[in-house]
Amino acid sequence: MAEKMHLSILIFTMIGCIVFVSVNSATTHIVGDNLGWSTPPYHGFFDDWTKNRTFSVGDTLLFNYNPGMSTVVQVYKDDYDHCTIKDTIYTYFRGNSSVTLDKPGDYYFFCSVGKRCETGQKLWVKVQ
Ligand SMILES: *[C@@H]1O[C@H](CO)[C@@H](O)[C@H](O)[C@H]1NC(C)=O
Ligand SMILES: *[C@@H]1O[C@H](CO)[C@@H](O)[C@H](O)[C@H]1NC(C)=O
Repeated sequence: MAEKMHLSILIFTMIGCIVFVSVNSATTHIVGDNLGWSTPPYHGFFDDWTKNRTFSVGDTLLFNYNPGMSTVVQVYKDDYDHCTIKDTIYTYFRGNSSVTLDKPGDYYFFCSVGKRCETGQKLWVKVQ
């Protein structure tokens, strides 16, 4: 009897931990998975990468690239749409950049090297 009590307490504690972890854990999203942050195999690659993912406040985007090979320029929608840099929010260039999604809304990024943005090295993330 006492053992059964112990077991159920243990199980409840475990369930509690799982709920706690799933509510509080922030996810690190590796942009482009194995490809990383580089020239995509086709134009909509990074759009497709976002499709099966949910981005929440507190999550991190990790852009994997080597310095000098890519940049991560955070911009507003207009620059994102046209691959222009009129109003830059932030430029990351030191390699393997982490960006914390600290509030809900839309985040726009692209690579400012050459014509990479035009080839589809751009990312739009919607944070709930
Ligand atoms: C999204 O997930 C579904 C089910 O796991 C899969 O069939 C589909 O190919 C995935 N889409 C992308 C773009 O990865
Ligand atoms: C970036 O991360 C990759 C994979 O973790 C690693 O192989 C590479 O050395 C890192 N590059 C830099 C510049 O930190």
